[in-house]
Amino acid sequence: MGTSHPFPAQASRPARVPLRRMLPALVRDPARALIDAGNRTGGRLARINLGSFRPYLVTHPDHVQHVLRERAENYERAGDGLFWRPVKRLFGEGILGEGQIWSASRRMLQPMFTAKRVESMIDGMAEAISDAVDELDAPSRVGRPVDIGSEQARIVCRAIMKVLFADKISVPDAMRVVDAQDAIASAVIPRIVVPFAPLSLPMPGDRTFRRAVRIVDEVLVPIVRESRATAEEGDDVISTLWRARTDDGRQLDEQQVRNDTVAMFAATTETTINVLTWLWPHLDEHPEVADRLYEEINRVVGDEPVRREHLGELRYTRMVLDELLRLYPIGWLIPRRAVAADVVGGVEIEAGATVVASPLITQRMSAFWDRPDEFDPERFRPEQVRARHRYAHFPFGGGPHQCLGMYLFYLEAQLIVATMLSRYRFRLRQPGVPGLRLAAALRPRRRVELTLTGTAASAAA
Ligand code: HEM
Repeated sequence: MGTSHPFPAQASRPARVPLRRMLPALVRDPARALIDAGNRTGGRLARINLGSFRPYLVTHPDHVQHVLRERAENYERAGDGLFWRPVKRLFGEGILGEGQIWSASRRMLQPMFTAKRVESMIDGMAEAISDAVDELDAPSRVGRPVDIGSEQARIVCRAIMKVLFADKISVPDAMRVVDAQDAIASAVIPRIVVPFAPLSLPMPGDRTFRRAVRIVDEVLVPIVRESRATAEEGDDVISTLWRARTDDGRQLDEQQVRNDTVAMFAATTETTINVLTWLWPHLDEHPEVADRLYEEINRVVGDEPVRREHLGELRYTRMVLDELLRLYPIGWLIPRRAVAADVVGGVEIEAGATVVASPLITQRMSAFWDRPDEFDPERFRPEQVRARHRYAHFPFGGGPHQCLGMYLFYLEAQLIVATMLSRYRFRLRQPGVPGLRLAAALRPRRRVELTLTGTAASAAA
């Protein structure tokens, strides 16, 4: 798709999305209902009617680019915005917020995630992933099924705790935090669905939320505290945060370092764990994709451990990851608040209005994608990517808040996929692709269980 897409640039009234009338569809399958609503707008700016709360929905890639990048200074990620309130209760002010504290955190953390720094982590990550995958040998030998979501959680935690948290958080403790995050992601759904409900009004999920936040704090706060004394020496996330300074030279306080540690923990774990869970059912449904993936991994990696120099050659693996991120963009909702009035696609937006972009909706709209619900990695051949609008596929957002972990994600996910597929073939226990659960971050609706068998190469090794 190019910028010449025939959408009515001069429409002066937003399309309407009467969510209340869509209630039955929303209850049945909220993700589908939102994608269908996006499709009905055809790319026109729309207004979602939630009664007293009426956010604008931007779906056209030109409009997404306008809000996230070109006029980013006018669209702030307001911590007191209604959509942000539920997650802000967990993360507080910091890297996932806006303003001075965000910019201090971003300035300090960004250098940790440049291509060069992330490449220097590959060997450590590859080793940790390989050791963690070894533990799948036992179930594979006796044909015992595994819950691949929790196995991936273990693999990701082992790699990330080593390269980003200097093993300050043990893998069992990290798994407790991952489980608590999982509970939190579901517990906040009622507050995301009814964003205008006051915090003083008890809602379902509140108690689970509080209990889970307590677990997160029990594990992470003592480590944050202990790291302060040695902050000058370490290049892990927590030490780096202790060295951060705001524009006026202040050190972040313990609460702020805690907030960013919790946010970085979530950003580096649940994203990768969840998106990879969908890989297996799609490979099961598309044996031709699985064959190409096995062929590439076999040719590039063979029966060696996966190494840094293999990654650049795993081009098809990368296309498969991009297609997974198109269908399952874990950060599915990107809300902003308009600082001053603006006009987008000919529609006037008033100052203070909430404006929402959603990679999930845009990336599945038939106006911008051919056969949008079909899994087809060919869409990510380089020539196809070049021909498409940059903001037709934006799983990592864009502009000043663009995801810090994009490069890390691709390398880590390539390592995990190549390590697992070079060692095992798999069989799903229950065929079919799990639906989408719209939590604070996107999750599969059910667990995916697999039986693994070792490949000839792994048996010989
Ligand atoms: C599947 C993988 C991932 C996806 C789909 C994803 C998605 C996103 C999206 C959509 C945003 C933009 C939020 C906004 O504009 O309001 C974001 C921001 C962010 N992501 Fe990721 N992310 C992923 C993995 C990671 C990883 C591995 C890290 C580790 C460093 C990370 C760290 C961050 C941070 C720190 C921000 C906030 C940046 C800022 O506001 O300055 N993410 N991510």
